[in-house]
Amino acid sequence: MGKSRILVVDDERMIRWSIQQALSKDGLSVAAVETGEEAIAQATDEMPDLVLLDITLPGIDGIEVLRRLKALEPSVSVVMVTAIEDVKVAVEAMRLGAYDYVSKPFDLDRLKVIVHNALDRHELRQEVEFHRKESIKKYGFHRVIGPSRKLKDVLEIARKVSMSEATTVLIQGESGTGKDLIAQAIHYESSRAPRPFMAINCTALPAELLESELMGHEKGAFTDAKAGKKGLFEIADGGTIFLDEIGDMQPGLQAKLLRFIENKAFRRVGGHRDITVDVRIVAATNRNLVELVQRGMFREDLYFRLNVIPIFIPPLRERTEDILPLADHFLAEISRDFKRSVRSFNETVRMRMVSYGWPGNVRELKNMTERAIILGIRDVIDEDDLPLPVSEPALQTLGRSNGSVEGVVAPAGTVDAPDGSGYRFRLPEEGVDLESVERDFIQQAIDFAGGNQTKAAELLTVTRDALRYRMKKFGLI
Ligand SMILES: Nc1ncnc2c1ncn2[C@@H]1O[C@H](COP(=O)(O)OP(=O)(O)O)[C@@H](O)[C@H]1O
Ligand SMILES: [Mg+2]
Repeated sequence: MGKSRILVVDDERMIRWSIQQALSKDGLSVAAVETGEEAIAQATDEMPDLVLLDITLPGIDGIEVLRRLKALEPSVSVVMVTAIEDVKVAVEAMRLGAYDYVSKPFDLDRLKVIVHNALDRHELRQEVEFHRKESIKKYGFHRVIGPSRKLKDVLEIARKVSMSEATTVLIQGESGTGKDLIAQAIHYESSRAPRPFMAINCTALPAELLESELMGHEKGAFTDAKAGKKGLFEIADGGTIFLDEIGDMQPGLQAKLLRFIENKAFRRVGGHRDITVDVRIVAATNRNLVELVQRGMFREDLYFRLNVIPIFIPPLRERTEDILPLADHFLAEISRDFKRSVRSFNETVRMRMVSYGWPGNVRELKNMTERAIILGIRDVIDEDDLPLPVSEPALQTLGRSNGSVEGVVAPAGTVDAPDGSGYRFRLPEEGVDLESVERDFIQQAIDFAGGNQTKAAELLTVTRDALRYRMKKFGLI
């Protein structure tokens, strides 16, 4: 940072002069004006880091100048200068956001201390604000791409949660749907952002290690514990802990986590005193927690406690509108990163992308795009660069083939209509109940597959999990 800039506003020439002398000697750049009007004009031109503002001025008074300065730039530091009898007004000024006040006649050394403290704080606040903006740029919600209603709904809840006081959030969704991405955005756009975001995968560590990783341990807690160590709960105090794959956490540790969520307190491994911290827990899983609860592998009480604010990210195949915008986004991002001039996907690739099931969700789409950009040689990606399995329309697979040529995939709702209308499925004039159509198809697929869910899922080009999810939704199991 360059020289700090101070603006002195006082109608007494002697005061302006003495302050200017004293502060310039300290290496500050000091400008001085006589009236509030001039001060506003200067500040509009270029906002100083600190304003020393007399309360009694000939034109608009100091309080009004303060108001206008704060309206121009809320972060500006203002120190009020008052005559002794103005103390009440000075207190009012503090309420309006002034940093401090000095009464005339003042001691220049004391004034210097106040000015330097105010500048330090100003600098610190600017740094914090700078970092906040940087991390939002890097990790904010704007990174989550997709125009679908379903994703918008997810983002709306996630933003609300981010700004709220909520200390537990549960994000569910298949692998690759963006759980990490959303967890980060929840943290970095919240007021917790200046404090740590710590992520840990519950699958990656054996239970005892995970416990000491989270809760820390006291000296001598186990053979290797030569010194006490803070766990993530302590390190992330004031911030967020992302517990990935929570479904894989051992029941013993689940109980301790529940106790922590309920009391905000925990004990280090081998410890006897409660440690209280304030962390937000964002838990995520790609497993079906309800099923795990039913099978006795996940504590029901913990599930209910976590599920207070559930965020469910639908798989990509259930929000097909997101596929091409995501693909284009990755194409632009990756070709920029790899300094390649790849500009687009050809029509066949685009069509196949829309009808493909994306079992690996957005991660798979991103990886495939990256691979195509790296391996492709032309600046338009074709089906050789990005080989996607050709999935056939569900209707056809169900034995009602409309005779489309094998290998040619219809983008949802366009060609291949037996009646030449351009629609694959004809909407009756009176409309349909979409849910019951879906339910009907699912039932047909199950019947067709002789009750074999894996086969039925294949017939519908969805994963078995997705099929089971829908079967549950429609009460078919
Ligand atoms: N909606 C989205 N917009 C942009 N990128 C996304 C989106 N969803 C996922 N991604 C990207 O896909 C990859 C997988 O996402 P991730 O958050 O790790 O998924 P998960 O944790 O659910 O397995 C990451 O590279 C992530 O940045
Ligand atoms: Mg993840």
